[in-house]
Amino acid sequence: MRKNIVAGNWKMNTTVAEGVALAKEVNEALAGAAPKCDVVVCVPFTHLCPVAAAIDQTRLGLGAENCADHKSGAYTGEVSAPMVASTGATYVILGHSERRQYYGETSETLREKVALALENGLTPIFCIGEVLEERENGTFNEVVRKQVEEGLFNLSAEDFGKIVLAYEPVWAIGTGKTATPEQAEDMHAWIRSVIAGKYGNEVAENTSILYGGSCKPGNAAELFAKPDIDGGLIGGAALKCADFMGIVNAF
Ligand code: 13P
Repeated sequence: MRKNIVAGNWKMNTTVAEGVALAKEVNEALAGAAPKCDVVVCVPFTHLCPVAAAIDQTRLGLGAENCADHKSGAYTGEVSAPMVASTGATYVILGHSERRQYYGETSETLREKVALALENGLTPIFCIGEVLEERENGTFNEVVRKQVEEGLFNLSAEDFGKIVLAYEPVWAIGTGKTATPEQAEDMHAWIRSVIAGKYGNEVAENTSILYGGSCKPGNAAELFAKPDIDGGLIGGAALKCADFMGIVNAF
């Protein structure tokens, strides 16, 4: 059975002190909540160690927002998968559209990152999604199929089973314009069929596919009610404990 997951992506927000306070607040809110999903916060690299020390990871999972495409060496400014794992984090967001768009990440570099994340026991939250032009010109299914195939289909079925996918239509990120539950469900079902074509039905049925893009307490329940939507990857609304918990409690 696949897991339901609500994961926050804090992006480049909060100081260390603010981030630790937010993580503690979420951790405490979860203690009394009995959520019907796994809950994760993905935080800036600088925040990983202090947040790891401040939360109970049996209740609130911790992840990074990226990792390097090399294991170690002369790559000034980069943070490797073994470094992320050594903080106690167990998740890593890979291939976010902001990384693809602003930092030139390609399927080729992402394959390296995914391999290193898996080698170091991290669960990749692998992001895919089309831009507005591709939504409007009708190529969105093919664009997303290609992202999944090129980024992940080199994996064995066993390794693919460790991946969490996040469908994030780029036109819905930070714009207040959410995909309709029907648009999101159609895409999630398509992604699952693409996975089934490569790895078979069982692997496809066991893959968690999260939705991301202007997901909020007010629209999470109708998105999560769809059969192929297994949770959310949350940007802006993850920065306020009450909003994030509102989404967690939508399950
Ligand atoms: P918003 O929830 O702010 O639209 O961001 C979504 C996102 O990019 C999560 O990774």
